[in-house]
Amino acid sequence: MSVIAFASDTGVWLLSTPRTSYALRIDATGAPCHLAWGPALTLEEVQEFVTEPAPPPSSFEGRPSVGDELPVDGGPRYGPPSLQVRFADGTRAFEWQATGHRVHEPAPGSAELVLDFRDRLHPLRVALHYRVHDDSDVIERWTVLRNDGDAPVALQRADSAAWTLPFREDYRLSHVTGQWSAETQLRRDVLPFGETVLTSRRGITSHHANPWVMLDAGDATEDHGQVWSAALAWSGSWRITVQRTPDGRAGFTAGAGHEGPYLPLGPGQEYTTPVHAGLYCEGGFGAASRAWHAYTLAHVLPHPQEIRPVLYNSWEATGFDVDEAGQKALAARAAALGVELYVMDDGWFGARRSEAAGLGDWVPAPDRFPGGLAPLAEEVHRLGMRFGLWVEPEMVSPDSDLYRKQPDWVLHFPHRTRTELRNQLVLNFARRDVAEWAYGWLTRLVGDHGIDFLKWDMNRAISEAGWPDRGEGADEVWTTYVHHLYDVVDRLRADHPHLRIEACSGGGGRVDLGILSRTDQAWPSDNTDAADRVAIQHGYGQIYPARTMAAWVTDVPNQLTGRSVPLRFRFHVAMAGVLGIGGDLSHWSDAELAEGAGLVAEYKRVRHLVQHGTQHRLRAPVDDGPAATQYVAADGSETLLLVWQRTSPHGRPSRPLRLAGLDPAARYREARTGTVYSATVLREYGMQPELPPGDWASAAVHLIRVP
Ligand code: DGJ
Repeated sequence: MSVIAFASDTGVWLLSTPRTSYALRIDATGAPCHLAWGPALTLEEVQEFVTEPAPPPSSFEGRPSVGDELPVDGGPRYGPPSLQVRFADGTRAFEWQATGHRVHEPAPGSAELVLDFRDRLHPLRVALHYRVHDDSDVIERWTVLRNDGDAPVALQRADSAAWTLPFREDYRLSHVTGQWSAETQLRRDVLPFGETVLTSRRGITSHHANPWVMLDAGDATEDHGQVWSAALAWSGSWRITVQRTPDGRAGFTAGAGHEGPYLPLGPGQEYTTPVHAGLYCEGGFGAASRAWHAYTLAHVLPHPQEIRPVLYNSWEATGFDVDEAGQKALAARAAALGVELYVMDDGWFGARRSEAAGLGDWVPAPDRFPGGLAPLAEEVHRLGMRFGLWVEPEMVSPDSDLYRKQPDWVLHFPHRTRTELRNQLVLNFARRDVAEWAYGWLTRLVGDHGIDFLKWDMNRAISEAGWPDRGEGADEVWTTYVHHLYDVVDRLRADHPHLRIEACSGGGGRVDLGILSRTDQAWPSDNTDAADRVAIQHGYGQIYPARTMAAWVTDVPNQLTGRSVPLRFRFHVAMAGVLGIGGDLSHWSDAELAEGAGLVAEYKRVRHLVQHGTQHRLRAPVDDGPAATQYVAADGSETLLLVWQRTSPHGRPSRPLRLAGLDPAARYREARTGTVYSATVLREYGMQPELPPGDWASAAVHLIRVP
């Protein structure tokens, strides 16, 4: 049960989630300051946190740089500001003045607290929002800024929220880093003293970092310990600054945007930051991930209860070489394999025969699709599959009719190079006319061709983010671009309620809670090598659920790495998410097609566990393994164990896997062999899944509770 309570004598607000507490109050300076975030407390207990701040020990210290709910640039504050404004008269310091509060129920099972403030002199309003839910310990926070004056205000930094941890002797930071085709590599290191900045300056969420953090006292494990974590729902540039202060405190502030650009807030304008969601959790990193997965399903995804279909994607099979006959032939083979959604990737439009041309000309190429897309769409539907199409609406090739007609539609600065990456330029989605153009052709395309699914790609980082018509206010582009992107996707979905969308940005360049709130799944990486993928999926799943994680089985040797691993291993790795096939089926032997069809059928029998069960990472892919992940039905009636072993060194001790989440009094029958195990043995002593000898061994073990 979530509750928001107030103690009027001390001004303490207590937000209670089912298992945790968050407390704050407005201090004597008028600033909202933090009291507690952690295990559940009563309002009475929270009063013990209310003490008058000790005077600074010297004239050099100032106000502690963690401990404010939204540290501002103003007064004796020397930490990284969450809110940094410049008023028209050049004043920078913001001074808090509380103007009221509101508590309401935005939806059944949720409660929201809004604390209203303004600057003591200037009519800039700041509202801090906190939302809690009955079914989650995740607390959603965001900030709304409103310029009620008649002069512009420059928002140099407008973070969603700042979070403070209780004092611990030590702190550790977990997050992911990466690059194209090596996304979401989990890092877990001691939090250094000073400021640690995690950021994207690329205009997209990025392959290089992802906007979430987990902090612990250095003692949490996968199964035990306190973990404080937070994730930002934003798909453009972002910055998270984690602090460990010289006096040993820790906290972090997070929001949209990177340093440099500022957001102009004109008279009467309002800016709502993205949601920054925070979670305190006991039960280690595994429990934190499960809580994030549950929250994403309950409060982020548009159609969480759906089972995502098995898809086929043509990219690795055909590259740009797509035509009607070839696609129909692949579709027939995919259908025979058990595929439910057929997706034609890049290459179907305009002069798109390579990366060199065509983006922007979203008309089926007449030489390859003489009758348009309808004959292929009809054939795919006739085969009993849904039809999906690749698009990249934010981009234009310099060699395209669109660019020849509208050269000013791209992000650019006058007299500066228009840097091409992958031979493409970025359309200025912040321009209303550009966003309208994209919405127009997309809604016609989907409506005219009965398209069930779009893979929405974005294949380069932003550079030269200029908008010459806007002059002074052009920095707005970084924010408005993302808002218009969201708006186009939202309107498209509203027009075509059956449409489902995959978020992609050259693989995992744009995966975050913002894009996931309006798409159905994401493409985590262009790296489809099953061996590399185990680590990528491990990092992805720290926050994002398997239900959103598209995973294809592709051909060997892998196009990127040249590595060959058995078909079964490739399937077992892809079965950890939303299974897809991306190989060239015209070259699969009968034996491979038969084995593939069997594994697709097996996935369909267990995918409700992967997509809607709870995930337990039994062993991380940190050494020779085996790495293993388990998915358990909500009622404990079934479980699936996926095991992947890269190599099998001689003489390594056997390492049984202790299963989690089972009904302790029950017995479970293994679906394939019929062997019956007691839950106590599986939980306490573990099982040794039968793996074939040799390298690249894998197994999928499905256990069903014996009635
Ligand atoms: C990048 C994507 O991640 C790939 O899967 C593929 O769609 C290509 N773009 C197509 O250009």
